[in-house]
Amino acid sequence: MGFSTLLTAAGLAGLSLAAPPSYRPKNTTYYNPIIPGFHPDPSCIFVKEWDNTFFCASSSFIAFPAMPIHASKDLVNWKLVSHVQNRPEQFPGAGNITRASGGWYAPTLRYHNSTFWVINADVDAPTTGTGIFTSKNPYDNNAWSDLTVVEVGGYDPDLFFDKDETIYSQAAVTILGDPFTTDIEQFNIDWPSGNSTPRHFLSNGTGVQPPEGPHIYYKDDYYWLLLAEGGTALDHQVTMSRSKHPTGPWELDPANPIQTAINTTSLFQTVGHADLFEDAAGNWWGVALSTRSGPEYVNWPMNRETVLYPVSWPKGQWPVADKVHGKMSGPLPPKNLKVPGTGAFVKDPDYYTFPPGSSLPRHFTFWRFPHTQNYAVSPRGHPNRLRLTPSNANLTSFPTFDPLAGQTFVARRQVDTLFTYTINMEFSPSKQGEEAGVSAFLSQDLHADLGVVYTNGAPHLRFRAEGPGAPATVVKPMPKSWCETGVSFEIEAFNFTHYSLSAGAKGTVLETFALVNNSLFSTSFTGAFVGVYATTNGHEEGGSPAYFSKWRYQGQGQAIDDGQYYPSNGQRGGGLYSRDG
Ligand SMILES: *[C@@H]1O[C@H](CO)[C@@H](O)[C@H](O)[C@H]1NC(C)=O
Ligand SMILES: *[C@@H]1O[C@H](CO)[C@@H](O)[C@H](O)[C@H]1NC(C)=O
Ligand SMILES: *[C@@H]1O[C@H](CO)[C@@H](O)[C@H](O)[C@H]1NC(C)=O
Ligand SMILES: *[C@@H]1O[C@H](CO)[C@@H](O)[C@H](O)[C@H]1NC(C)=O
Ligand SMILES: *[C@@H]1O[C@H](CO)[C@@H](O)[C@H](O)[C@H]1NC(C)=O
Ligand SMILES: *[C@@H]1O[C@H](CO)[C@@H](O)[C@H](O)[C@H]1NC(C)=O
Ligand SMILES: *[C@@H]1O[C@H](CO)[C@@H](O)[C@H](O)[C@H]1NC(C)=O
Ligand SMILES: *[C@@H]1O[C@H](CO)[C@@H](O)[C@H](O)[C@H]1NC(C)=O
Repeated sequence: MGFSTLLTAAGLAGLSLAAPPSYRPKNTTYYNPIIPGFHPDPSCIFVKEWDNTFFCASSSFIAFPAMPIHASKDLVNWKLVSHVQNRPEQFPGAGNITRASGGWYAPTLRYHNSTFWVINADVDAPTTGTGIFTSKNPYDNNAWSDLTVVEVGGYDPDLFFDKDETIYSQAAVTILGDPFTTDIEQFNIDWPSGNSTPRHFLSNGTGVQPPEGPHIYYKDDYYWLLLAEGGTALDHQVTMSRSKHPTGPWELDPANPIQTAINTTSLFQTVGHADLFEDAAGNWWGVALSTRSGPEYVNWPMNRETVLYPVSWPKGQWPVADKVHGKMSGPLPPKNLKVPGTGAFVKDPDYYTFPPGSSLPRHFTFWRFPHTQNYAVSPRGHPNRLRLTPSNANLTSFPTFDPLAGQTFVARRQVDTLFTYTINMEFSPSKQGEEAGVSAFLSQDLHADLGVVYTNGAPHLRFRAEGPGAPATVVKPMPKSWCETGVSFEIEAFNFTHYSLSAGAKGTVLETFALVNNSLFSTSFTGAFVGVYATTNGHEEGGSPAYFSKWRYQGQGQAIDDGQYYPSNGQRGGGLYSRDG
């Protein structure tokens, strides 16, 4: 995409995000993505019984804690309220996955019998890694149950509770031995045993391979089967069919696909893997994943994000979805930030000083299960510091790596097209290979790091990236005094295509070590994180700790599809930018 950063004088005056609450049916303007950053495969519900709140779950692959739950009262402001898997013991196998694109794929979130239900498949985990978690309080991590194993036999499992309390699940199942050929198969689940009946064929959708992400709804005496087809890249699309019976046969919507960005020039591509829900006023809404790549599909470091669109679904008729754009309009509930829970709103900036007695915020994320003793807030003698104890494995790890051995790395998602991340570090390495610093990270196979490394008998600043076409490594000697007085790091996404990674003595003007074309990262199922790491690079455990302070993440602008940038965090920061086509 060719974006320039031309500031216009229009400022914020024309934007209505700060407008006072308006009551439906009046439409208000909102901006996609509603849950920006790495939040793919959204499954969302409206729960009247929980004070008219919307809840969404999304995929996390091997990031941990897993399967974030966001809550909102207004569909625009989403707070991270819990994670479905937040304790290793809920399903220990989730930490024992080597492949970067394994882990928890697309969850289905439902509310039934005063209980929140999540069904999912943990791809690459032992076969027992599929099944159901339940909770009676979505604001409390501890309320999420251990996994009740349900043999899904595929991925993207759905959960549908019929009127007679029969529980149907439908999932994408790989057929003909080809990972890109699936069908949708169905089985029944007995609860609470989790026992399931044998699977049977349910649907091929419209025949566009691979059908995935099924969801069944009941409305107006019909069962409705929503599917994702075409794969999660540029051919992604949403299709609908319906039946008088939950097991089919299915009548296809003549208007399929009912939602897609195929053949458009929109910035918002790959629209698919949808879910539908009805709000308190009877308005229907759809969510889906989308990638802000434009049809060029070259630069998309945040990968698949959660977008929202209004749906018109008159009684007994097929649903009609508004197209996904950056700037949208619909009958939103009034603005309401009174969402319970201690987590941050997804669009909030970070400023963390790690004071004594505090803990890591809920949106701080690890790669697989953390070894919690390697992360200490304000340890004795080091107030207002986050201490990282290095892992033997570095961020890339190595072929014989035991996934349960831990990689010392803690990060947050990139949620803005443009952002600045800064942090200070004190680190006095003394052995060959000891290293700590900052990383823009998508997976163990795709990351760009800038750190202090002890090599050739002295500390050096080193930029190093992993991935196809990664820029060359840069190594520069560093004055030893900086180890104690501190080094500052900055990662900046300064335009649509590039990050800069900079470092220098704390409190001075930083030197840029590398510009990284973020197309480096456009091959993953995951999206970008920024954070800090410490490693001995394969040498023995227990190396020199690193002390980090003043963690800041500030969004500087969101690309939207009408040729402009929208300010990060609503009315705060940023400005309007134009796209140069
Ligand atoms: C971003 O900046 C880099 C480095 O200056 C430049 O090569 C690239 O073309 C810029 N990208 C855009 C979209 O302007
Ligand atoms: C982890 O996975 C490996 C390979 O599948 C297996 O041999 C090992 O027993 C697993 N360990 C645990 C603790 O699950
Ligand atoms: C829901 O509650 C009803 C009434 O208590 C019960 O019969 C039914 O089995 C419950 N369904 C599930 C899935 O737990
Ligand atoms: C569904 O699609 C698969 C793969 O193309 C095909 O083998 C199968 O016959 C189809 N089933 C039906 C009922 O059309
Ligand atoms: C996209 O364009 C191609 C080529 O013109 C056409 O065959 C296809 O049907 C279009 N797809 C949709 C969903 O419009
Ligand atoms: C409000 O938005 C919905 C969804 O786009 C649309 O169907 C409806 O016509 C709009 N209403 C008004 C009064 O503009
Ligand atoms: C960024 O990488 C892409 C893909 O390799 C390439 O097409 C593009 O020209 C690169 N941009 C710059 C400014 O180097
Ligand atoms: C990362 O660790 C592996 C295994 O210990 C090692 O071979 C590799 O050189 C390390 N990478 C760097 C950049 O030191």
